[in-house]
Amino acid sequence: MENSPLQVVTVPTAPYPDQRPGTDGLRKSVCVFQSRRNYLHNFVQSILSSIDLRDRQGSTVVVGGDGRFFNQTAIEVIVQMAAANGVGRLIIGHHGIMSTPAISCVIRKYKAIGGIVLTASHNPGGPHGDFGIKFNTANGGPAKEAVSSKIFLISRTIEEFAICPGLKVDLTTLGRQTFDLENKFKPFTVEIVDSVESYANLLRNIFDFAALKELLSGDHRIKIRLDAMHGVAGPYVRKILCEELGCPANSAINCVPMDDFGGQHPDPHPTYATDLTDSMRDGQYDFGAAFDADGDRNMILGKHGFFVTPSDSVAVIANNIFCIPYFQHTGVRGFARSMPTSAALDRVAKATKIELYETPTGWKFFGNLMDAGMLSLCGEESFGTGGDHIREKDGLWAVLAWLSILASRRQSVEDIVKDHWLKYGRNYFTRYDYEDVDIDAACEMMEDLEMMIADKSFVRQRFAVEDKIYQVEKADNFEYTDPADSTISRNQGLRIIFSDGSRIIYRLSGTGRSGATVRIYIDSYEKELIFEDTQVENLLFLSVIQLLSICITLEFAADRSKDRQQVCLSENTSAWR
Ligand code: G6P
Ligand code: ZN
Repeated sequence: MENSPLQVVTVPTAPYPDQRPGTDGLRKSVCVFQSRRNYLHNFVQSILSSIDLRDRQGSTVVVGGDGRFFNQTAIEVIVQMAAANGVGRLIIGHHGIMSTPAISCVIRKYKAIGGIVLTASHNPGGPHGDFGIKFNTANGGPAKEAVSSKIFLISRTIEEFAICPGLKVDLTTLGRQTFDLENKFKPFTVEIVDSVESYANLLRNIFDFAALKELLSGDHRIKIRLDAMHGVAGPYVRKILCEELGCPANSAINCVPMDDFGGQHPDPHPTYATDLTDSMRDGQYDFGAAFDADGDRNMILGKHGFFVTPSDSVAVIANNIFCIPYFQHTGVRGFARSMPTSAALDRVAKATKIELYETPTGWKFFGNLMDAGMLSLCGEESFGTGGDHIREKDGLWAVLAWLSILASRRQSVEDIVKDHWLKYGRNYFTRYDYEDVDIDAACEMMEDLEMMIADKSFVRQRFAVEDKIYQVEKADNFEYTDPADSTISRNQGLRIIFSDGSRIIYRLSGTGRSGATVRIYIDSYEKELIFEDTQVENLLFLSVIQLLSICITLEFAADRSKDRQQVCLSENTSAWR
């Protein structure tokens, strides 16, 4: 305990207009946080002020981040401000580091009123990279729209913030630290915790660790390769996969968290996780996976780098859900996917007569359904997969889910996925991203497209592409009414749905750091599949290309005679399939 009580001061400040939380919190380049006076302080005060004083006083809040550059500085400020704003106890990850799934787990475990999560997810880190901050509520998940709007509103009018500048926290020592604050009856407490143990314990109660250990270190073991991409997942991978489940140490690569992620994009995506894809190619590993900086995203690969799309991944897990003991106990309450995610999951839901929910992009929508006991398993095309054990997507959980399927089916990843396609047909899925587009031009294009597809004559319109005809069956701007609380979310993306179930979706991203990002998602369904013939495979993928050519037709039509930037034909484009 400090000898003399620490002083709490109120500092005048001026608001910023651009602190609206996006799909998953506020994300900006590090230099915005560093160079704009009180930029971080304003946002932290807005978060704290959004919590009713009665709930805030004496409460417990969790704080942690993915260890990126500025993580530590931000935590020091958050501690000083939380103390000054009446929070009673902070639970902080050792060295200020905690994966996003672990934060969700810890919020729930300690019954905290919420958590402050410091991450820009898969965006690059370091002094020239990005930083991000978001607020999770008591359920352990990202704040709902109403809470984020309140935070934004406060940030627009903020005039002062409260801080306790003399309070210095030691993030390196596990255990409790207490601080006496002037005008506070009880001391303010900080607990530095080992989140790896809490999180590992959660997983032990979900999966059959004995069966996984047999799979990974028994006589007929498979060889796996996991890439933490120098993000926060490393310590969790080492503890759970290597120490506990017996994988050899060389199964886990890039496991030391670095504040710039080794200068790489910490994105578990075929384009960026090249250490993993390179090492998988020659067939020495049966299973591979990568995680993003904060450990909530995952990419699954089979032998020789066989890529499982995230949309297929959640569908395969759904189809094999009882390989996971947790679901044998809880039963399956429902499946869900975000609207742009391919409809592969829908077919499993239909066959198993389990309810399927189609939500807007963003994990918070799943969390709400889980809180209402309506949802057990969900996934997004953006490399997120998870269950209702927490309220965030969970990279390591997805890996253990896949390993549980392998342990029970004793087939290769590729065979499991191909069996799945044979049973249900295949959704060919691709996404094109047009980054750093002028915001006004992007919005204008979306408005034009919306006007065009809203026209009555657009439905039933036929697009002939080579020998195939696509007929529009439905076209709209996706609107979601939450079945749990009837909240309506509008403007969630333009959908063009064809009569064969294929879809084209246009959406503006909510996570871009600058300008606008236009995403085009293409989901093309093929019922009949023939394998062993790459030519046929390529022909089937052609349907995606055909749909893409419709996109270009639409964009030209929407662009008509206007003299402005050609949004969707810009060079800054990335795509994968
Ligand atoms: C975050 C959210 C996801 C979302 C993803 C893409 O990772 O947690 O739920 O799918 O961002 O969002 P965007 O708005 O960029 O498409
Ligand atoms: Zn992430």
